[in-house]
Amino acid sequence: MAPLYLLLLLILPSLLAAPACAEEVPDRYAVLQAPRAAAAKEYLDPTFPLPQPPPAAPSCTVPVLSYSFGDTYGAAPAKASYAPPAGCPAPWSLVVLTFSASCAGDQYDRVAAVWLDGAELLRTTTAEPTPEGVRWTVRKDVTRYSALLRSPPGGVLSVMLENVVNDKYTGVYSVNVSLEFHGTPPYLSDAAASSSSPAGVASNDPEAPMLPDSYFQPADLIIPISDGIGNGKGGYWFRIQNASDSHSKFVTIPSSTYRAVLEVFVSPHSNDEYWYSNPPDIYIKENNLTTRRGNAAYREVVVSVDHRFVGSFVPFPVIYTGGINPLFWQPVAALGAFDLPTYDVELTPFLGLLVDSNAHEIGLSVVDGIAEWLVDANLHLWLDPSTSDVHAALGSYQTPRLKISRQYSTRLLEGRFKIKAKRRSSFSGWVKSSFGNFTTEVETELKATSLVEFTGDGKNKTVSLEAKQETKTLIRADTRKVIGKVEREAKYPLSLFTETEDGENGTSLITVTLSHGLSVETETETRAFESKEKLDDRQTAEGWMVVMDHDVVNGSVATTQAYRFSDEDREYERTIDVMDGAVLSDNVTESFSALAGAGAADACWRCRGRSCDGAGAAACRVHAGIAALQGPDQD
Ligand SMILES: *[C@@H]1O[C@H](CO)[C@@H](O)[C@H](O)[C@H]1NC(C)=O
Ligand SMILES: *[C@@H]1O[C@H](CO)[C@@H](O)[C@H](O)[C@H]1NC(C)=O
Ligand SMILES: *[C@@H]1O[C@H](CO)[C@@H](O)[C@H](O)[C@H]1NC(C)=O
Ligand SMILES: *[C@@H]1O[C@H](CO)[C@@H](O)[C@H](O)[C@H]1NC(C)=O
Ligand SMILES: *[C@@H]1O[C@H](CO)[C@@H](O)[C@H](O)[C@H]1NC(C)=O
Ligand SMILES: *[C@@H]1O[C@H](CO)[C@@H](O)[C@H](O)[C@H]1NC(C)=O
Ligand SMILES: *[C@@H]1O[C@H](CO)[C@@H](O)[C@H](O)[C@H]1NC(C)=O
Ligand SMILES: *[C@@H]1O[C@H](CO)[C@@H](O)[C@H](O)[C@H]1NC(C)=O
Repeated sequence: MAPLYLLLLLILPSLLAAPACAEEVPDRYAVLQAPRAAAAKEYLDPTFPLPQPPPAAPSCTVPVLSYSFGDTYGAAPAKASYAPPAGCPAPWSLVVLTFSASCAGDQYDRVAAVWLDGAELLRTTTAEPTPEGVRWTVRKDVTRYSALLRSPPGGVLSVMLENVVNDKYTGVYSVNVSLEFHGTPPYLSDAAASSSSPAGVASNDPEAPMLPDSYFQPADLIIPISDGIGNGKGGYWFRIQNASDSHSKFVTIPSSTYRAVLEVFVSPHSNDEYWYSNPPDIYIKENNLTTRRGNAAYREVVVSVDHRFVGSFVPFPVIYTGGINPLFWQPVAALGAFDLPTYDVELTPFLGLLVDSNAHEIGLSVVDGIAEWLVDANLHLWLDPSTSDVHAALGSYQTPRLKISRQYSTRLLEGRFKIKAKRRSSFSGWVKSSFGNFTTEVETELKATSLVEFTGDGKNKTVSLEAKQETKTLIRADTRKVIGKVEREAKYPLSLFTETEDGENGTSLITVTLSHGLSVETETETRAFESKEKLDDRQTAEGWMVVMDHDVVNGSVATTQAYRFSDEDREYERTIDVMDGAVLSDNVTESFSALAGAGAADACWRCRGRSCDGAGAAACRVHAGIAALQGPDQD
């Protein structure tokens, strides 16, 4: 994941001939000689299976790009032209981006992204190949980018995958990107029209104001907050090098904007790839260590408008497929590695600063960040179809100070570094559009506790991160009555124990126990509907590996993956047990309750050919064996 670091490695091989030092663990590794008898050819990342498009919906698949990424470090992204399919016009019920890749040889994991006219659609990282070859497919619901897909300003899709190919690292990544469009069949659009007001029209009953339907639909306009320098040469992402390295873009938004959300994409690399396990500089200095993975273990991504803080988040500590122990991630990729989480920051309270037809500066930075972070964002805007004269003003703005306490103790290579961080912010602002005068209040509380501890003369390392972010958004009508409420809680627990022992011939034996989670709960309540979504994705892994330089030469591991998603009408669970690259069990359980306004038949079509227990609460059950590696959604 660290092109710059790798370059150093190539130029100064002698510096890296020493065995992995304790302070360098975790590190990035490529699996060169580990036993591969059981190595899988197909990698996977269990996620909720994308909804099947409704029956009889017209659908079209547009192959957009096909490219082999050889020695591409520093090169311009691969580009292809894109136009929406004539046979499947918008509005779409579902749009899916498919990124499929294959690679054979030896290679590190690499970062990649897909942009449409500079707006990012997918941030991903690659699996590490074997000489026999591996492949995998990422499928992402990109319906929220409908505005851009419908009328792309330039019609250029770009893919950047920074790879380095030489005598030792031979793997070339072949990538295909396609887009799949599903229309809305007439029986559904008729049902939608009769069950609620038409899109974009709010209730005109002054006694019972409502959010317009368009509020919860894909935005009307998406403006990239990305690096367009040299037409995206080197990728459209901003490269953030340190805590004071803020990157920004000036944007002028339409004066009909009534809602704004900034969606941020981030991935840490090089010295910050394992930011959650970095010791403070004092430890590195006192021990005369050469590592540059420092600056302690707290990071927070901050968004600003005209240099004013408007939101922040602790990024999910994503692990790439070469990270910590690459054998853990064969063939189940680490959480989010194939489709990195993005982070939405509600900017509606700040529309008062933005809708004046002037250019405003949207900035991105990383608290305590060191080289390097790849960061960019999409500004999603919802427009009032009836007036281009929206008025807005910022109301209360509670200066959101970061409270951070650090307790450090060191004695030579032993040390204990604890950080507690907390940030609470509360903003409100009103927006008067043709829908009414709505006030949006956003309250956020972010709490993180991080511990990095070295014991046993630095040979043992314990890392733990508990990050939790709660966001509550209330939308009030002129009457002060709450007409919309969204509550979201995200938690990212990570714990890691590593023991390093010196082996023979300059090797190290590294034993790791890991537990990692991504849990997000979202509750939405409006006068028209209520919804509750819960995602809980967890991995535990343990095992050992023998490493020589950055190569894994032997090892044995076991990983358990448990993915759970539920909302008011379904529950989906997939658990996978893996040992030394072989899938021991892959169990899927799904159940559906009756959908509001739809009969069991509708619930049953979701079972997609699997047995359906019909009636009121339809349930489909699958017990997949080892063969069902691709998951039930791809059958
Ligand atoms: C990409 O598409 C081509 C043509 O359909 C196909 O031969 C190739 O196997 C695909 N590669 C991947 C990685 O999916
Ligand atoms: C931060 O990074 C920027 C961009 O590389 C550089 O110009 C600046 O000098 C750096 N600042 C510090 C304090 O290192
Ligand atoms: C670090 O280097 C300095 C200067 O060479 C030396 O005095 C000190 O003892 C070294 N510290 C350790 C822990 O090796
Ligand atoms: C909109 O509502 C807010 C809060 O009630 C009020 O302060 C503001 O004056 C109203 N704006 C307009 C244009 O009516
Ligand atoms: C490291 O941790 C392991 C497992 O807890 C323990 O057995 C071992 O003694 C520790 N090593 C050192 C050098 O403290
Ligand atoms: C260490 O290297 C020597 C000489 O190349 C070799 O004979 C020996 O088998 C190696 N030991 C291990 C454990 O790989
Ligand atoms: C890998 O480790 C296993 C178990 O310790 C051992 O039997 C095997 O010989 C090792 N393989 C290599 C290539 O060193
Ligand atoms: C999958 O189901 C089988 C049979 O019920 C069970 O033995 C196994 O432990 C399950 N695997 C997981 C990962 O839950």
